[in-house]
Amino acid sequence: MNLKSEILKRKTFAIISHPDAGKTTLTEKFLLFGGAIQTAGAVKSNKIKKAATSDFMEIEKQRGISVATSVMTFEYGGKLVNILDTPGHKDFAEDTYRTLTAVDSVILVIDCVKGVEEQTERLMEVCRMRQTPVIVFINKVDRDGRDPFDLLDELEQKLNIKVRPLSWPINGGREFKGVYKIYDKSINLFEANKTKISKDMVRIDDLSDPILDEIVGEKDANQLRQDIELIEGVYGDFKVEEYLEGREAPVFFGSALNNFGIKELLEKFLEIAPFPQPRQSSDREVSPDEPKFSGFIFKIHANLDPRHRDRIAFLRVCSGEFERNKFFHHVRLHKNMKFASPFTFMADSKELLENAFAGDVVGLYDTGNFKIGDTLTEGEELMYKGIPSFSPEIFKELINLDPMKSKQLEKGIEQLTDEGVAQLYRQEPGNRKFIGTVGELQFEVIQYRLENEYNAKCRFEPRNFFKACWMTGDADAITEFIKFRQKNIVKDKDDNLVFLAETSWILNTAIQQNPKIEFHTTSEFKV
Ligand code: G4P
Repeated sequence: MNLKSEILKRKTFAIISHPDAGKTTLTEKFLLFGGAIQTAGAVKSNKIKKAATSDFMEIEKQRGISVATSVMTFEYGGKLVNILDTPGHKDFAEDTYRTLTAVDSVILVIDCVKGVEEQTERLMEVCRMRQTPVIVFINKVDRDGRDPFDLLDELEQKLNIKVRPLSWPINGGREFKGVYKIYDKSINLFEANKTKISKDMVRIDDLSDPILDEIVGEKDANQLRQDIELIEGVYGDFKVEEYLEGREAPVFFGSALNNFGIKELLEKFLEIAPFPQPRQSSDREVSPDEPKFSGFIFKIHANLDPRHRDRIAFLRVCSGEFERNKFFHHVRLHKNMKFASPFTFMADSKELLENAFAGDVVGLYDTGNFKIGDTLTEGEELMYKGIPSFSPEIFKELINLDPMKSKQLEKGIEQLTDEGVAQLYRQEPGNRKFIGTVGELQFEVIQYRLENEYNAKCRFEPRNFFKACWMTGDADAITEFIKFRQKNIVKDKDDNLVFLAETSWILNTAIQQNPKIEFHTTSEFKV
């Protein structure tokens, strides 16, 4: 077995979008191409968007489905593709952010009618922080959407990234004729509800060729000529290196529902997307082809069956070879562990796995040994960087309703926050506990699970905080600051000091008055 050739085969990425832009549909079309599923509709969407907040069980059921579809693996054109699924619902955004730490690139789906939406901006912020290469797919071109140039401008402005169209729509909505593939000068003619790949690919080496007028009509042909001239003039050449460094995003147009423009997207993605990349750890950069295994946990999912408290930890392999039943070193716990039943994800089923390589995601049954961000190695004491916690947006204090069950509550909240359901901050003295989340849904999840899995009862009292800020800097300055802000100082799960600011004004004042302290709204600075 050649480690290098295994790595070069792999492409591990996530499809991200604002809910409803077409992520599920696109994923499904990719899987159809890869032969991983046979029929449309086989991928159960893990989007929770349509469920009301009160419909909690439904949400949990859907989260259950999402375990099966968390990672989808298929082969295409000699490559092994790992798609990591991300929840669409805004309240689970933190899950998505963490998943983004485990991928090497991203395909961002935009609805051509709606353009760049709120969730998209936030997801792209995370990609930019990590310089993740991004390909943009503008979906639903069969609908009357926005002007493609306006969309490109909006992408650049709102997402703060240079874009470069690689395909271009010919007209749109009901008049949509097809797309012109700029990079290989051919036209893919549109046919609605195409189930197979189009054979109507027409090569147009020269756009002034009258054949263009014949196939799309004079008006659209002229418009295309003008558009392409403008694109060539404004956007310059597409440079793969710029894409790989996360500075430029190639853009494709198509329709996932109509299976249109998908094959081109997939093939170009396989051609240019990065294979598993070196990763920064606490000590050094780790190359994927190093012979010794290393990897980190980026997601933990609870078992939905209350009779089994075990959980599934998702391990991203970063270097070497992961092997079943071999002892690996759990760096945080300083202990060696082996795994008898690691599994891999094949479309909608799990399969026992014997070995895995950089880029792969391995499912591990866990009885409480793992926290998000934990690193496994063959003995080296390194921890992977880049599992950030983001400042939550909603804060509530956890109130114990049954003092006889304090231990259960302690254990439950500890484990649930290890899974990343929410962030836990403790305040001493008084042992007050504050829970921070990005959405209301998590509070329901926590309350329900504490009661059902840990037999503990609680309620939440809203606390009016605006941001959680991790503090670093001059020790004396921090001690002084804490003296005056006792009420707002807490510690996170790793005992880092956090300032809970009530308003942006209070935060800005604190920043101005304390030049020797740095306030961070993500925890990525640490480790
Ligand atoms: P998401 O995972 O990003 O949330 O989006 P999803 O794929 O579920 O797509 C959202 C809706 O958009 C779906 O319709 C889907 O059929 C539709 N859609 C996806 N791609 C295209 C496209 O290229 N053109 C058009 N016109 N529609 C598209 P729905 O009615 O919400 O769901 P369903 O009942 O069809 O499943």
